[in-house]
Amino acid sequence: MAGEKPRRSIDEVTGLSDLCPATPQAEIPSPRRGTFPTVRPRRLRNSSAIRNLVAEHRLHASQLVLPLFVREGLTEPRAISSLPGVVQHSPESMRKAVREAAQAGLGGVMLFGIPDQRDATGSAGVDPDGVLQRAIRDTIAEVGDETVVMSDLCLDEFTDHGHCGVLDARGNVDNDATLLRYAEMALAQADAGAHVLGLSGMMDGQVAAVRSALDAAGHTDVILLAYAAKYASGFFGPFREAVESALEGDRNTYQQDPANAREALREVELDIAEGADIVMVKPALPYLDIVHAVSSQVTVPVAAYHVSGEYAMVEAAAERGWIDRERVILESLTSIRRAGASIILTYWATEAAGLLRG
Ligand code: PBG
Repeated sequence: MAGEKPRRSIDEVTGLSDLCPATPQAEIPSPRRGTFPTVRPRRLRNSSAIRNLVAEHRLHASQLVLPLFVREGLTEPRAISSLPGVVQHSPESMRKAVREAAQAGLGGVMLFGIPDQRDATGSAGVDPDGVLQRAIRDTIAEVGDETVVMSDLCLDEFTDHGHCGVLDARGNVDNDATLLRYAEMALAQADAGAHVLGLSGMMDGQVAAVRSALDAAGHTDVILLAYAAKYASGFFGPFREAVESALEGDRNTYQQDPANAREALREVELDIAEGADIVMVKPALPYLDIVHAVSSQVTVPVAAYHVSGEYAMVEAAAERGWIDRERVILESLTSIRRAGASIILTYWATEAAGLLRG
């Protein structure tokens, strides 16, 4: 037809036969799909732009929660030797830390109170004017709804024997008597304005007991973060200094045996059935298999607590120049995200938020 261009061969279009006229077709290596040298995973790592584009997991300040210790009677913050960079706060320094946390865009703060006076039943924990309740009120006054205000709901900071519950006549932790105490604590903390209660005592039935007490008092909006899978861990060591723990012995009759994984799923299942809004695994890095198993199994948000001992190990090694501190911080937190936790409690929260901003 007039005006129609003659069809050209592929060789003419690509110029392939001109470039390598002597190469017979059969000798051109055919791409070997799915293998080297065609496939080169390193292509996707060649620049930080491409690495960012293909990153599967990201850390964000809004997923980080900062634990804070408030010590009754302090006028100045006091250092904790086994947790360099973490302090026991005075009311004033706590307000400042809370403000900084909110400004850094953190997801929340988790408050722990250390009272002046301890007794067998942890009375300071239920006192409306107790150190933790005051800290909650101060925090709410400082940041309102800008960040999520969480409080630890456990007796160990308030009992003179340091256990997470009250004891029976033989000196064993009395599960059911403890639940009554937790219900009272829950009301005191909710009345003070806490948004989220962190149930860390590992008593059977604690979520249900606290939920029904809160609901009966009209606190239906208060969120329950259940430390569902909390292991009896040596990694809590520095925390015991931070809260001046009076504990002698161990918590092996209520916290989980590190040897068990399936049991964690059972604990989580029970807590969700009892009304947990968020479940937590603790510690984090030695239990990433549990974080992963839990997050693939449940539909509620999953948190992980990067605990004091995990923090202290990194700080100690970094102090000796043995590891690159900031790099290890971000790698540790990213690993917890990769395992499936969407919320991370970490003493590095405010600093990490700064690192993420660059
Ligand atoms: C108990 C509680 C503990 C931690 C948080 N809540 C200590 C324990 O169970 O012995 C440990 C946190 C940490 O090590 O950073 N209220």
